[in-house]
Amino acid sequence: MIIAIDGPAASGKGTIGKQLAAHYGLRHLDTGLLYRAVAKQVLDTGRPPDDAEAAIAAAKSLDPARFDEAALKAPAIGEAASVVSAIPEVRAALINFQREFAATPPGAVLDGRDIGTIICPRADVKIFVTASPEARAARRGKEYRAAGQSIDDATVLADIRRRDERDTGRAIAPLQQAPDAHLLDTTDMDISTAIRAAVDIVEATRAGRGRG
Ligand code: C5P
Repeated sequence: MIIAIDGPAASGKGTIGKQLAAHYGLRHLDTGLLYRAVAKQVLDTGRPPDDAEAAIAAAKSLDPARFDEAALKAPAIGEAASVVSAIPEVRAALINFQREFAATPPGAVLDGRDIGTIICPRADVKIFVTASPEARAARRGKEYRAAGQSIDDATVLADIRRRDERDTGRAIAPLQQAPDAHLLDTTDMDISTAIRAAVDIVEATRAGRGRG
């Protein structure tokens, strides 16, 4: 089984993806880490994230087995990731890895921005997870502070709005709900309620009742 989860930053898609994978015994890929790793590699060599040549070279030489997830989750890396991810050759260099990951038995849960639309258009289940920008900023701010990073809510909200705009407005693989994706709005849900709702969507889809 392949489950595709898409949605904007801090919508809950990462946690939902991880939990669905554990629940169904599937592998899990947070595809945002790929773009974050490209961005970090570019920044580490002193180049700006819109340096296409450096970003394409980084995407072609990526080694996901060596990712340092904590370092990749830093706020500045998310911002730079949304810049490198708008470069078509960067996206092209990462497609095969994602498709092979999805196709490897016993199947996988992938979360990102273009999983249901581009990477796995034939996924068994597609979920588009969203929440209001304010709810997402409050969650992300809490995560940053728990990780010891001092950043205020207004800055996090501005970052989220900017990334939403860039991710939905770009020419290539923009963030959008696939026509056959189930919408899951987590604005008023805690994480355990959201996970239950996601499992319900998978079960309903598997029972043949979910797709309309
Ligand atoms: O999901 P996360 O916030 O870690 O993603 C960082 C950035 O990577 C996003 O803002 C988006 O621009 C990009 N991304 C993407 N396609 C994906 C996953 C992430 O363009 N499948």
